[in-house]
Amino acid sequence: MKRILVTGGNGFIGSHTCINLLQKDYEVIIVDSFINSSRDFYERIKILANRIDPKLLTRIKIFEGDIRDKNLLEGIFIKSINDGKRIEGVIHFAGLKAVNESIKKPSKYWDFNFIGTFRLIEVMEKFECRTLIFSSSATVYGYSKEFLITESASINPKNPYGYTKAAIENFLKNIFNSKPNKWRIACLRYFNPIGAHSSGLIGENPNGIPNNIFPFINQVANGRIQNLEIYGNDWDTRDGTCIRDYIHVMDLAEGHILSLEFLLKNDCKFINLNLGTGIGTSVLELVNIFQEENKVKVPFNYADRRDGDIARIVADNSLAYSLLNWKPTKTINQMCKDGWRWQQKI
Ligand SMILES: NC(=O)c1ccc[n+]([C@@H]2O[C@H](COP(=O)([O-])OP(=O)(O)OC[C@H]3O[C@@H](n4cnc5c(N)ncnc54)[C@H](O)[C@@H]3O)[C@@H](O)[C@H]2O)c1
Repeated sequence: MKRILVTGGNGFIGSHTCINLLQKDYEVIIVDSFINSSRDFYERIKILANRIDPKLLTRIKIFEGDIRDKNLLEGIFIKSINDGKRIEGVIHFAGLKAVNESIKKPSKYWDFNFIGTFRLIEVMEKFECRTLIFSSSATVYGYSKEFLITESASINPKNPYGYTKAAIENFLKNIFNSKPNKWRIACLRYFNPIGAHSSGLIGENPNGIPNNIFPFINQVANGRIQNLEIYGNDWDTRDGTCIRDYIHVMDLAEGHILSLEFLLKNDCKFINLNLGTGIGTSVLELVNIFQEENKVKVPFNYADRRDGDIARIVADNSLAYSLLNWKPTKTINQMCKDGWRWQQKI
């Protein structure tokens, strides 16, 4: 049974991936500072693990701390060796993700995202743990003329958050090139993860006003926020609103497990992979499907376009399919249903 360290495993995507890892017979060690999640949320992960199978509970533990703290990370690796088992790989979610905040506080984003990854790599190298899955983002692409964006599209981020992700990808490529026979690295470029675990026990629960559209829609639907603003209805798209590639968080979690298995069973590799569905949904379509599927109202109005937004970004996911045999299975209707089920239980 392999032991995997999951940084930021108490967050939205990390928590779903941890459940999946446990179900696939991995041992999971989470390190999370709770800067964007809560200790209570970890209790929910444990309740869900226990409900699936009480034996899973013996295979998950959490360390509270910041990945920029090298001593903390080293302590986790040492403790693991002393327990009789090495950490064989790391799935690295820990980071900040609010685009608007990154524009106002770029240094904070370079510190958390870039320095955090830098420290992690130093410690992984020291303990000769050289298998890494990194949470990158479709934000690295910026604007592209391609209808479906491939991994070879130009990297052209539009905000500090995106710059940190692009810089980390480059840094990881340098690390790989320095020891190409030692490292196994996958940078997973997520499109727009939404939805929640079908149990309704875990999901996305951002602190404060949500930055992403889906938690925003949920909070308008439950009355916590009065109104949704849709940024622009004059884009060059079928209904004038922006088109995005929404992917169910459980499909995304599965993409991590398959990437990890792929890295562990193949020769050393560095790969960039799009994880999206390849299906574009406009913001207006998303709002309408959410309302119909859940029989709720989401009042909205149109506002000006936001700086740096782009009309359409949808994944070409054929590389993930050919390398991993990964195919997303859940529809946009399912994403809306699962997301709302979770929202009602928070
Ligand atoms: N959700 C998205 O739309 C999306 C899209 C593309 C990429 N990503 C990336 O995926 C990763 C996970 O995203 P998420 O949506 O689960 O975010 P999240 O905020 O829900 O989870 C991140 C977790 O990392 C923790 N964390 C942050 N900085 C830390 C640090 N320095 N040390 C220890 N823990 C720390 C937070 O407390 C949180 O629990 C992030 O790196 C994000 O940039 C997310």
